[in-house]
Amino acid sequence: MVFIVVGTQWGDEGKGKIIDLLTDRADMIVRYQGGNNAGHTVVVDGEEIILHLIPSGILHSEKHCVIGSGVVINPEALQSEIEFLEKKGISVDGRFYISQNAHIITPYHIQLDVIKEEFLGKESIGTTKRGVGLAYTDKMARIGIRVVDLLEDKDELREKLSHSLFEKNCLLKNAYGQEEGFDPGRIEKDLLAYTDLIDKYVADTSVIINQAIDAGKTVLFEGAQGTLLDIDYGTYPYVTSSNPIAGGACVGAGVGPTKIDSVLGVTKAYTTRVGNGPFPTEMCQYHSEEVRIKGREYGATTGRPRRCGWLDIVAVRYAVRLNGLKALIITKLDVLNDLDKILVCTGYQYKGELITEFPQSQKILKECKPVYEELPGWQEEISHLKAYAQLPSKAKAYLERIKELLQIEIAIVSVGTERNQSIILDERLLP
Ligand code: GDP
Ligand code: IMO
Ligand code: MG
Repeated sequence: MVFIVVGTQWGDEGKGKIIDLLTDRADMIVRYQGGNNAGHTVVVDGEEIILHLIPSGILHSEKHCVIGSGVVINPEALQSEIEFLEKKGISVDGRFYISQNAHIITPYHIQLDVIKEEFLGKESIGTTKRGVGLAYTDKMARIGIRVVDLLEDKDELREKLSHSLFEKNCLLKNAYGQEEGFDPGRIEKDLLAYTDLIDKYVADTSVIINQAIDAGKTVLFEGAQGTLLDIDYGTYPYVTSSNPIAGGACVGAGVGPTKIDSVLGVTKAYTTRVGNGPFPTEMCQYHSEEVRIKGREYGATTGRPRRCGWLDIVAVRYAVRLNGLKALIITKLDVLNDLDKILVCTGYQYKGELITEFPQSQKILKECKPVYEELPGWQEEISHLKAYAQLPSKAKAYLERIKELLQIEIAIVSVGTERNQSIILDERLLP
């Protein structure tokens, strides 16, 4: 069975927790896009572990984990993550592979990300400053450095770096007024320090994944970021530079679309967003603060407070369509426990018209006013509940309304950070 798990909002939906939970049923977990801009949290026996690059399935000692060619890899971040896991007694050896085609995030990508964001000031994207967008820019401009480049001819690597840095140094000097440019020799030395690490894990990952699929293994694709951060379909330019949507999994892993059995969408029971950009259902400061505190809504990568909003059905309906979702996994329902009323956005009002499909024009989106339906809160603790039938009737009514509005089934409801705080509604929708 081959399942893709994607975020249906602006990221941080709880994908890490869900992937870790589903890993019990899987043999292999694959990251197919993004880089260490992701922050996927897994809580095991009260201990919080945040993974940025290595798939969240890695905590299960027998499972194989893969970083596909669509991911951008910062070797330093990779090394720290492997060491971090080793300190916890988790070895990745013999079960972790990185694609030879994946692009490398170099120190100059990170520096440029920082400089660019500062230069843009109020107009900045609010990136994670991990150099992710800049590495993808070079990939598309065909001047990127790939994993394989660190292992092959050193003269060629030096030449590629000089080529890639020429334009950047002009930009640094002329646009950002910086006299000192990047030194190819220095960067080369920095990168070559990771040759042994890369050499240990590099593989033709498309072969490995396809062999696993053909052998009847269960493979999970772990989306990073979320549908509304997709470079093509998200709230451009306030997006990330890859394709988190399900279509991105085939490209980023080297697997054909006919091999995919199902796509599951992870949806937070409300909405959050880190960074700048339009957010139609953003809550007033009072509610936002309340949800932020209860939901511990601070970025898992940058620690920034996340902007909080009500559940946006228009946005999730868009995610259902773009990803071809078979079912939803609703997370953080428990965060709404204390609220006396809960708002759900069922449409947008734009110049006197009702819009129910997510607008493609950012100008229109910015002017959309959410149309809310008000549902009563259940005002009861639910984190300890183990079955759907035990949920308060008002919580069930909230979930039923989501299903009805989106015309989609719910496979799991998550009511806490731990693996066992997960209520399975329909086994048939899961691997
Ligand atoms: P990801 O990027 O989609 O993996 O999500 P993050 O890890 O960035 O953010 C999700 C946060 O919510 C993490 O702190 C999780 O531990 C936490 N979380 C996940 N599911 C639940 C849940 O059902 N209830 C609560 N209260 N917290 C959850
Ligand atoms: P996970 O996988 C939430 C956001 C940044 C910024 C925009 C571009 O944990 O859900 P980038 O550094 O990618 O160039 O920043 O995308 N962003 C995320 N927001 N969760 C993430 O990942 C994110 N990764 C990037 O905040 O708005
Ligand atoms: Mg996250």
